[in-house]
Amino acid sequence: MHVKDVLCVSRFITSRTICPLNSLERSGGESTKLLNSYMSSTPFETQKRFFHKYFMIIFEIVRLCKILRVSENLFPPLYKKINTKQFVCVCVSSMYELRTPMLAVMDVSMLKTILVKECFSLFPNRRNLRLNGDLYDIVSLSEDDNWRRIRNILTPAFTTGRIKEMFEIMKQHSRKLTDSLRPKAHNEEVINVKDFLGAYSLDAMASCAYSIDTDTIKDPSHPFINHAKKLLRISIPLFLIQGFFPFLLPLLEISGFSLFPKSCVAYFKSVLEKVRAERRGGSHQTQMDFLQLMMNSQQEKQNKGLSDHEIMSQAIIFVAAGFDTSGTTLAFLAYNLAKNPEVMRRLQEEIDTTFPSKAPVQYEGLVNMEYLDSVVSESLRLYPPIARIERVAKATVEINGITVPKDMIVTVPVYALHRDPDLWPDPEEFKPDRFSKENKQSINPYAYLPFGIGPRNCIGMRFALVMVKLALVEVLQNYSFSICKETEIPLEMDPTGLLGPLRPIKLKLVARSIASANVDN
Ligand code: HEM
Repeated sequence: MHVKDVLCVSRFITSRTICPLNSLERSGGESTKLLNSYMSSTPFETQKRFFHKYFMIIFEIVRLCKILRVSENLFPPLYKKINTKQFVCVCVSSMYELRTPMLAVMDVSMLKTILVKECFSLFPNRRNLRLNGDLYDIVSLSEDDNWRRIRNILTPAFTTGRIKEMFEIMKQHSRKLTDSLRPKAHNEEVINVKDFLGAYSLDAMASCAYSIDTDTIKDPSHPFINHAKKLLRISIPLFLIQGFFPFLLPLLEISGFSLFPKSCVAYFKSVLEKVRAERRGGSHQTQMDFLQLMMNSQQEKQNKGLSDHEIMSQAIIFVAAGFDTSGTTLAFLAYNLAKNPEVMRRLQEEIDTTFPSKAPVQYEGLVNMEYLDSVVSESLRLYPPIARIERVAKATVEINGITVPKDMIVTVPVYALHRDPDLWPDPEEFKPDRFSKENKQSINPYAYLPFGIGPRNCIGMRFALVMVKLALVEVLQNYSFSICKETEIPLEMDPTGLLGPLRPIKLKLVARSIASANVDN
């Protein structure tokens, strides 16, 4: 039996895949048979396994109590039991989320089959809780042929040519970011890094998506940032209700309940309608932003183009999906660099060589920086903002001897995968050289999934990487990050929502004294 760390109850899916009652060793064997017999009886036979079912429901209640900040003292004996019981970290395990049975997969060859080889035929979709309100047609929740159609129309917006065009827009915001940090460095203030880096990501996303200038770096109380932050915070009570009482789903759906906050969706709709109306009236100089590219697709593809409603939904989800993930990535990068000053110095040397004397950052130079790429990759390994990805089986299928029943949710615990000691030596260490040109050949592509993999991976991956790298380079041209007594080490993670720290990451900035070149951007 492959016994690894005892697990943290609050993040059991995202931190380590656990399997209290059944398990599969990496090499297969007896436990494979056990799991298989468990999985391959009638579909969802698992639900009927009395002990497992109720054990996991209790387990979930405890986890949710923690999410809801209910005191751990309410359940001291159970906590003790869970924390000391020999949970094992395994490659494949089954579990429950509320009443939903799931298969958690960390086996890289199974991941290849699920995420790539059989993506179109057997695993094209994510779980869809149906209560999506007005966002029912966003690409991330669309299914089958409809998803393929929307994804095909959106893909050309993320070509190198398009990203290069948007690079100039991003630069306006990275300049504002470095300017806003100057007084903070000068006054040696302790800053919440996410306030600045998140605002940059949002402003850059809003400009690239709809050419609107939110300037939330200057105005942190702008309604755009408040609504964007809330948009992906799904309603926990509604999630619990649909989870425990799935028979109520049709009723909730008909009654118009939505997991996404309605007021936020309405806000984004009104912003977008205003922008579209201005464009139709010709009073606005048209930029090639995501919105315009989608509007153009209506003419090019006639009947196969996106409908007006689909355009609105994608425009909203781009900003929501892109801003927090990128802002979180930047905040963790700042934290990792502050904790590892020798890595930061080496990165600054590469930056100073590529863009001497603080020369303006150029697209080609940026995307070709090797050490920068290693640093960003390693930070995303340790802190992947989307800590878990999912697919749903369209039909019953056997993969590597394991039967996956139709409609079973397959979850990939990315955070756990990225810290698996069998795949990553010294998994808790920040070592960018794992991703050096020579070393990265030996990394299994299915062991590293910050953006997912295969046809349904993150559509904005290359765009996000450019946005993140640009901000990091410009900030490090001018400042160094430094830990201070307010910096929490190690970080405690927030068990809710996307991966993020429970309390803000606080750092100081030290201005760098390099003569600057004539800045032309
Ligand atoms: C560092 C930043 C980002 C990270 C870490 C990230 C990560 C991810 C991950 C893990 C997925 C799921 C992949 C899968 O299921 O295999 C995803 C999907 C998606 N991401 Fe990102 N993302 C980032 C930035 C962005 C940006 C900037 C955009 C938009 C411009 C974006 C748009 C999307 C969309 C639309 C999907 C759903 C794709 C589909 O279902 O076809 N993401 N992202």
